[in-house]
Amino acid sequence: MRQSAIDLSSECSQAERARIRAAIREHLRPGNFLEIGTAAGGTLKQIIGWTREAGVATRFWVLDPFTYFEDQLEKVRANLRGAEIDPDEVEFLIGTTDSQLALQRALGTRFSAIFIDGDHRALPVTKDLQWAEQLEVGGLIFAHDYCAKFEGVIWAIDRFLARNPGFELLGRSETLVVLRRKDDRLVPVDAAELRRARIVQTLLKWKYSIRKRLAR
Ligand SMILES: C[S@@+](CC[C@H](N)C(=O)[O-])C[C@H]1O[C@@H](n2cnc3c(N)ncnc32)[C@H](O)[C@@H]1O
Repeated sequence: MRQSAIDLSSECSQAERARIRAAIREHLRPGNFLEIGTAAGGTLKQIIGWTREAGVATRFWVLDPFTYFEDQLEKVRANLRGAEIDPDEVEFLIGTTDSQLALQRALGTRFSAIFIDGDHRALPVTKDLQWAEQLEVGGLIFAHDYCAKFEGVIWAIDRFLARNPGFELLGRSETLVVLRRKDDRLVPVDAAELRRARIVQTLLKWKYSIRKRLAR
């Protein structure tokens, strides 16, 4: 069983959480904060505390299929209650970008921050980066597990930055990267980009599988 399911802890390291806290203090503007992939809500409850501490009025949203472990959504809600946060103040979107983005686009929902920590393969991360279209100028993107173990995350984030000069890399701590939207330029993720991400994901899968066989 996952550690976060047992003790409802954060899956980010102390240094990564310190980086998130600093970015909130220095750069976060009031608005909606979306966490994509919450596990037990261990990082979420801390982020909520840090926005309160910084006095930044923020409404929280969580996007997750809630199939990570048994009773995941109930455990997240209990975890929040344990930190004196009313879970009814968090908007839970049950699903993935595929099932939830179109509605929020149609509603014109805007975000001041997006924390990407769901499915770490190249295609899902590329899809999650489509929420950047809903990000206010000055808004932040946090991405977790930007590391050799998750090459799909590195590929998707690097590709996003290379295609989008309207975004800058603010900083990095261990596997946590922080991006900021500088202006309103954004190159949308189109069908060709999704095909490219799918190919990269397949190539990386083959690479891991060949490496595993060779190591036997
Ligand atoms: C690594 S954990 C998240 C850890 C959490 N952010 C933290 O810091 O404690 C991954 C989470 O992503 C969710 N997930 C998996 N695929 C997803 C997807 N396509 N979209 C959103 N969430 C996803 C899982 O259910 C799980 O809750």
